[in-house]
Amino acid sequence: MKLPPHLSIKGGHLYIGGHDCIALAEKYGTPLYVTSEDRICEHFRDYQKALSARYNKVQVLFAAKANGNLAVMRALAQLGAGADVFSSGELALALEAGMPAKKLLFNGSSKTHNDLALAVQHGVKVSVDSLDELHQLDAVARKAGKVAEISFRVNPALEVPTHPKIATGLATSKFGIPHERIPAAYREALACKNVKPVGIHCHIGSQILDVVPFVKAAEVMVRIAKELSEMGVKLEFLDLGGGLGIPYHHDTDPAPSPEDYAKAVMPVFLAGMKAAGIIPELWIEPGRFLVADSTVLLTRVNSTKAAHKRFANVDAGFNLLIRPAMYDAYHEVIVANRADASLTTEYTVTGPICETGDILAPDRKLPELAAGDLIAVLDAGAYGYAMSSQYNGRPRCPEVLIHGKDVALMRRSETLADLTGTMLRPPWQR
Ligand code: LLP
Repeated sequence: MKLPPHLSIKGGHLYIGGHDCIALAEKYGTPLYVTSEDRICEHFRDYQKALSARYNKVQVLFAAKANGNLAVMRALAQLGAGADVFSSGELALALEAGMPAKKLLFNGSSKTHNDLALAVQHGVKVSVDSLDELHQLDAVARKAGKVAEISFRVNPALEVPTHPKIATGLATSKFGIPHERIPAAYREALACKNVKPVGIHCHIGSQILDVVPFVKAAEVMVRIAKELSEMGVKLEFLDLGGGLGIPYHHDTDPAPSPEDYAKAVMPVFLAGMKAAGIIPELWIEPGRFLVADSTVLLTRVNSTKAAHKRFANVDAGFNLLIRPAMYDAYHEVIVANRADASLTTEYTVTGPICETGDILAPDRKLPELAAGDLIAVLDAGAYGYAMSSQYNGRPRCPEVLIHGKDVALMRRSETLADLTGTMLRPPWQR
């Protein structure tokens, strides 16, 4: 199997960023998320470089939903990243990670009054998702004596080649304002005293392995940008949404790079801006591409079983990585303690959760397994820990960060006390 450069096999052991996964699992226990900070930084720099080689006003915003660990966000902040935040919690994380408010965009189709108030308080731009929200924000900003800078989220009505649950710019999707109603929305915003439209935003979906849909989205966006400029909207940024997908099937998926993205999208953007006669910042909000392949989830085989097929029962399930159960997502698995052994036996790798769908990897050819073997689930850095839960009374596992020769915990393991820590005893049970 093809491995990215930060993963390697030596003496039968899987290494990440030069660190032996077997030793890490022994030191920190399993399950364990292990992340290479250097890999994340490399991806960020690639995006930054590909775009800024073609245009000098580029801002890369990390989609915080993909991985909300402060250490990850801090590393990105230090490289100059901003963030797409989708909740007050993500907004707070981004600020705590050192991202300046001016580099944040508060997205979301269902914001609360408190979300809007927090954005206004910190001067964070809001991507407004409906006219109802526009007027609520206007009122919140008026009360605070401020003017809220906004974009509208455009629904470009584009079919994209990805799982239907993560296609976000379909005509039928819950996100954004239909593109044909966008000029009217800006007209309404221009009439609001405490709101100032300064940007335009879209996001077409996630895990897209073809640059063409991004080009189509850019075409819609530059056409609208021109129309808005003619209406007198002074656009300071144009945000093209999330980033590229990644090759979860290492040997067969296409692997478009930020350079491929920039080569395809930037001519459309540049020509569009020239036609509109404006030079706004170009914003982009990659999540998955920056963090997905940086991380392995290490999980120990508790037992094996030969039933109608062979099962390898491991200690991580959809409580820690829900993507396979939720989207039938594919993640490569490697037996980390015998990574060079021949793949002789088919196993379905199943988690410990009390649900039939708790399958991390169905029908994979692996070496013959025994209790105690260590399995690495690859590409677990995006929407992995971020979507984890305590389901079935399972405290979440720790996360470890690797940086050159250094290794450190970036999140401790939850304990049994963390399961009950937020629970209260109703008075009649005292
Ligand atoms: N911007 C907005 C407004 C988004 O909604 C998203 C992702 C992104 C940026 C980042 O997209 P990316 O670069 O990661 O493709 N949990 C699913 C993915 C959900 C994505 C939702 N929005 C999964 O595990 O595949």
